[in-house]
Amino acid sequence: MSVVCLTSAHGSPGVTTTALALAATWPSHRRCLLVEADPFGGVIAPRYGLGDTPGLSSLAADSRRGLDNDSVWRHTQHLPGGVPVLVGAATLDEAYAVLRDLAGSLTTWATNQAEIDVIVDCGRILPGRSTAGIIGPAGVVMVLTRPTLDQLRPATHQVGALNASGIDAGLLLVGEEPYGAVEVSAALDVDVVGVVSWDPRTAGVLTGSHGTVRDLRRSPLVRSVATLAQRLAPPPPPQPDPIPDPEIAAESVSLVQDQPQEARL
Ligand SMILES: Nc1ncnc2c1ncn2[C@@H]1O[C@H](COP(=O)(O)OP(=O)(O)OP(=O)(O)O)[C@@H](O)[C@H]1O
Ligand SMILES: [Mg+2]
Repeated sequence: MSVVCLTSAHGSPGVTTTALALAATWPSHRRCLLVEADPFGGVIAPRYGLGDTPGLSSLAADSRRGLDNDSVWRHTQHLPGGVPVLVGAATLDEAYAVLRDLAGSLTTWATNQAEIDVIVDCGRILPGRSTAGIIGPAGVVMVLTRPTLDQLRPATHQVGALNASGIDAGLLLVGEEPYGAVEVSAALDVDVVGVVSWDPRTAGVLTGSHGTVRDLRRSPLVRSVATLAQRLAPPPPPQPDPIPDPEIAAESVSLVQDQPQEARL
């Protein structure tokens, strides 16, 4: 299993967009669940025309005596291409209560899954909020930031704070302008775990706000995230077939059904 947490320290660098793309490009030999644990509340349900329930709110209400496989999947919905998602609570107040009640048991459940990888949109880290309880035991923690001074400073500080508390975290850059990964890493002495391509057109489609992309799977954003997914996912069991490369993973992105398409996300 693998629990991958995406978070941010400032601004809106693209955590939700990247988490969606990561879940959609996760290698097909693994089962993957997207969890929207944003302490400010969820946006995936409205963006994708899903209901606020089932989701984390209904799971929390249903799991007072513990959480098991059946309950998790019972409260899961599916994105248009089939990605399973536990959508976040509708409002900030509700998100606070839900994450307070659920973070511990959900994390225990996630870390005990042998066959399922869990990708968590932790939103922006807030001191004292229970998303910290999810981030702690995660195998991979990435603080997303655009490589601009206003976002790099708080994001680097956040990585340092996580590292100081024993959590192995690194920066995930969204774009490489004005500073690239090598420059950021050297200048700030921080681990940069990867780069998501700057691709407003595709991001606009994935956030449901505007536009169409002729072939989402070949877009810079999806291809860069597919490469990351290949790196992060547990390897396939030994078999005669060659290990799929990122090109192939990008071909199988599952946030969309057929192509070319009007993005219907
Ligand atoms: N790789 C990208 N390239 C260009 N624009 C992007 C990229 N990823 C996201 N965006 C844009 O950034 C904005 C914020 O995206 P998103 O909602 O994913 O950010 P977030 O970090 O989850 O924000 P919040 O903290 O509000 O939850 C959206 O307009 C989205 O289209
Ligand atoms: Mg978000």
